[in-house]
Formats: sequence, C-alpha cells, structure tokens
Amino acid sequence: MKHEAWAIGLRWDWDPALQGLAQSGASYTNEFRTLPDPTLPLAAPFTFAVIGDFGTGIRRPSTAIKRQREVGLALQRAVDTENVRLILTTGDNIYASRRFLLWTKDSGDEDDDWFFTFYQPYRYLLNRIPMYPSIGNHDSAETEDRDDRAQVLDNFFLRERMVTDEATGKASLDPGLFYRVHVGRDLELICLDTSKEHFFSRGRLFLHPEHQAFLEESLQVADRVGAGWRIPFCHHPPYSAGPRHHNTTDMHPLMARFRAAGVRVMFSGHEHNFQHSQADGIDYFVTGAAGKLRRGRPNRFADAHTVSWSDTPHFLLVTIDGANMTVRAIGELVDGELADIPRRGPNDEFHAGPIRLSL
Ligand SMILES: [Fe+2]
Repeated sequence: MKHEAWAIGLRWDWDPALQGLAQSGASYTNEFRTLPDPTLPLAAPFTFAVIGDFGTGIRRPSTAIKRQREVGLALQRAVDTENVRLILTTGDNIYASRRFLLWTKDSGDEDDDWFFTFYQPYRYLLNRIPMYPSIGNHDSAETEDRDDRAQVLDNFFLRERMVTDEATGKASLDPGLFYRVHVGRDLELICLDTSKEHFFSRGRLFLHPEHQAFLEESLQVADRVGAGWRIPFCHHPPYSAGPRHHNTTDMHPLMARFRAAGVRVMFSGHEHNFQHSQADGIDYFVTGAAGKLRRGRPNRFADAHTVSWSDTPHFLLVTIDGANMTVRAIGELVDGELADIPRRGPNDEFHAGPIRLSL
C-alpha cells in the first residue's frame, strides 16, 4: 500500500503439519549489504554458506531422508547470527514433483514447483542474501528432460544479473551456466557447469567450445603468492567415495588446471552426504545433503582420498580470514542453536570441529 513498507508485519508461512498457511511469528528483515569492493583487500573475515541437493520440498512433513525444512531453518539461524553474506548452491536445486500429474518424474520445470522447494523454505533469506546457483543433473537434461535449466536461470534472475558480466567475459551462459563473482580483491567464486545435455554429445558442458575462453580467463596460471582464494563450485564431485556416486573421472583434466591456477579448495554436491577429500594440494568438499540425504557408509575411500565424511543433513559455513579458511558442516538446530555434525574418517576415527585450511 502507498507509503507503507513492503511486506511489513507477521507473514503467513506453509505449515506441513497443518497442510495450510499459518503465522509462526516470522517477519522480514528487509536489509541487505552490497558485497565488498572487488578492488580492495577484504577488511574483515568473510563468511558464506554452501548448500547442495536441497530442493526436496516442504509441502509434506519431513522424513528421515528429506530434511530441507530443518536444514533451511539452521541456515536461516546462521544468516542471523554468523554474518553470512552469500549462499552458493552445488546444484540439484529442485527435485519436487507435482503430485496431481500421473507422470510424477522429479521436476522443477514449472513455476509451481518452486514454491515449496525454494521460495517458501528460504523466504527469509532471499530478501537479504544473494544466492549463486550451479546446475545439477536434476536441473538439466542429464536426468530430467524438460526446461528445468531455463527455470533455474529465470528464477535466480541470472540473465538479468549477469548481462554485464556476459559482455565482459565474466559469465558464459549459453549453453550452460558459468560465471565468476569477485568478493573483495582476494576471493573469487567460479561457477562451473558439469552437467550433460543432449545437444552436446562430447561430454560435460565445461568441454563445450563456447566456454573455453571463460575457463582460460578464470583458470589462468597463478603465482601462488598473493593469488588469493580462487574457489570453483559445481555439482558433480571430482572425488567422491560414494556410496552411490563416485569420482567424476572425466573432470580430472580440469583438476590439473585448478592446480596451475592456484586453487586450494572446491565445493560440489551430487552425493547426498558430506565428504572432505585432499588430493594434490586441493581440498575437495562434497555437500549434497541440504535436503536430500543418503544414509550409509561410502565404499571407495582410497579412490576418493577421503579425510572425513558424514551422512547427516547439513550445509557448509565457510569463513575466510586473510590466508586462513575454516569450513564447518552445520546440521539441524539443537535447542535452537547451530551445531556441527560429527564426522568420521575412513577408519571410523572421530573428527570434530571446524576444518582449517590455509593458502
Ligand atoms: Fe545430482
């Protein structure tokens, strides 16, 4: 209404138990901050979150292996208390089906599919925190064959957000989703598209000729001293111990380029658990359980160079402080507070607390 703040006061939210809308005391905090100047060093620690394989939807009550609502509430708490400035997704953004269709293959190709899987669960984040998605096999023709990819671009406003970046080579959108985001002078986030499409038979989209100039520019050989944090993120994991999805070996030529470019860490999803691997000086994280969970012990630790893993629903909380980084895998709220999930090593040894890396 004229002269009134937008969406002020208590909001109505979907309640899966009621199967209807209810007021739970939530209202918007309509504030946002722009990202740090890309020409200046980061003046303070910078924190971001990473979520993967989340879009199971909250229309119905959560189950043991569909935990989007609970992980989303923890993410919201982290944004409130931990100064989270942006969110990366490692893909498989939407799985939800529309139940009234006879053919109920997982989808995301209709705007309706996005309410319960995205706009409602992250409602109190989307108004103040930018989200940077990557494309998973469930967002592309690799697994689903309609226009899911177009809906991801549309619903994240990617064409509008990246129109200038496309012109200057900082983004490469057709056909695929490649872009980089500078946060201060010393942090660069690089979205890579590792999915397959029918129109490109030679392999994953990062092999497509259209994107080679972007990759050249993004993965230039770096002098490690002062190179800062150059962090690729994508859906498919170069290293994964399973139990269902294992190493994506056709990504491994890209890993040599990562090393030359001074990459220290990368994030991916696809397998619905947490995994931390170390290979050739790079720390690899699989974070694919911000909604969908796969229980069970991975089975190829040696191939995946696994350090630790967990089959607990979670998201990642990453803080960069100069040359140091901490990565925390945060699970569902415990008594309303953030809690790190317990991790185990390949020999079942216990790992706890933040993972610390440095340049
Ligand atoms: Fe996937």
